[in-house]
Amino acid sequence: MIDLSGKFALVVGVANKRSIAWAIAQALSNSGARLALTYPSERLEENVRELAATLNNPLILPCDVSSDDQIAELGRALDNEFGGLDFLVHGAAFAKKEDLDAPFSQTSREGFRIALDISAYSFIALARATRPLMQKRGGGSMLTLTYLGSERVFKGYNVMGVAKAALEASVRYLAADLGPDNIRVNAISAGPIKTLAAMGISGFSSILGVYRDRAPLGRNIDAQEVADAALFLLGPGGRAVTAEVLTVDAGFKAMGF
Ligand SMILES: NC(=O)c1ccc[n+]([C@@H]2O[C@H](COP(=O)([O-])OP(=O)(O)OC[C@H]3O[C@@H](n4cnc5c(N)ncnc54)[C@H](O)[C@@H]3O)[C@@H](O)[C@H]2O)c1
Repeated sequence: MIDLSGKFALVVGVANKRSIAWAIAQALSNSGARLALTYPSERLEENVRELAATLNNPLILPCDVSSDDQIAELGRALDNEFGGLDFLVHGAAFAKKEDLDAPFSQTSREGFRIALDISAYSFIALARATRPLMQKRGGGSMLTLTYLGSERVFKGYNVMGVAKAALEASVRYLAADLGPDNIRVNAISAGPIKTLAAMGISGFSSILGVYRDRAPLGRNIDAQEVADAALFLLGPGGRAVTAEVLTVDAGFKAMGF
């Protein structure tokens, strides 16, 4: 059991009980960290508040990651309440349904901008806002969530694959930039898990089946398994790991035909 008591964590990307970010939030909380969770809109606020009620003294704050003002306000609120930050978990992603469904060459300029803004740029913006808070703590650890669609073509993943490629490159550049402040930056590339975001990918159920059939472990993974890997990367066990994309997919990525 990792002891994270006295640590402060910001988790962005909890929508409901199936969210990978929620599994990570619970794992952090169970290890003793105090959490701040965000909601992007009033529509999701109640969900997040209900879930957060099961945590120990959480902070609930609004943050639509496409808004620089809301990100700046989030930074100020965290500074007031926590006086610093140890962990940032970024699990926000979005692409318009029509851009996921259309043939890739039909991706609209605006759809491309939105997908890259919310799913990749937001990690850079949140890193910038939380860096001074981590500096106050003598360092910290940032984590985002990605998918193999960044490297390989998955039908129906389309513009999100490009966003994930940008996100993974951002992990490396952020790690180089923030390393001198003793801030580590990593990603977990998770195998497919049935969540709200995943249900927006057409053919998602067949992706689950292909992973089950081909992965060395012969099964799919669950959000708790991602959360366990997240605790390793965020916590003291990962203290020499940065600029890394750790694959948590029951081994699927290694397999050829
Ligand atoms: N589920 C999978 O199979 C899988 C696999 C690999 C990686 N991932 C990644 O994991 C992360 C979490 O996704 P999930 O599968 O848990 O689904 P999810 O739908 O539970 O989480 C996506 C989150 O993004 C948030 N979001 C969207 N637009 C936002 C905005 N403008 N501002 C702030 N937040 C916003 C949503 O509110 C939601 O909480 C995503 O980056 C996703 O791409 C998922």
